[in-house]
Amino acid sequence: MAEAIPDLRKVPKVRAYAELRGHMDAILDGVDDQVTAMATMAALVHHAFGHLWTGFYRVAVPGQLLRVGPYQGSLGCVDIAFGRGVCGSAAAESKTQIVPDVAKYPGHITCDARSRSEIVVPVFGQQGDLIAVLDVDSDKLDAFDMDDARGLEQLVSWFAQ
Ligand code: SME
Repeated sequence: MAEAIPDLRKVPKVRAYAELRGHMDAILDGVDDQVTAMATMAALVHHAFGHLWTGFYRVAVPGQLLRVGPYQGSLGCVDIAFGRGVCGSAAAESKTQIVPDVAKYPGHITCDARSRSEIVVPVFGQQGDLIAVLDVDSDKLDAFDMDDARGLEQLVSWFAQ
């Protein structure tokens, strides 16, 4: 039987992300498959924290186009151009974006009207190339901080190893 996803909503974030990394490494032991890893990571992060939307946009055309990958939540937009919205900016700049209030972010792409804040981290492959971004949305304002940035960056470092 698959292991259960822990409820980490009341656990300090640094510890919570460390725990998730442990689960991920155990579940993905011996697995060399990016889609499997993305699906596993999205499920773990989404349900452990009770987020609104958690998932990956993969680089479909380098420098130009992101296309939705494994995710949890309501229907995500399919294609996002580099430089557009929070995901496209994270991809274009290869840099984590924290948006405390999506209503104040010019060009924010609304996939789910309940989204209030969001974080997007770049995902690099073994050659140091950008392969995707991980997008996490919350229905609460100001849900993400530097602990989330570091924790999520640490989780997606799985793809570079
Ligand atoms: N809000 C994102 C788009 C993706 S969805 O929220 C799932 C953005 O502005 O890039």
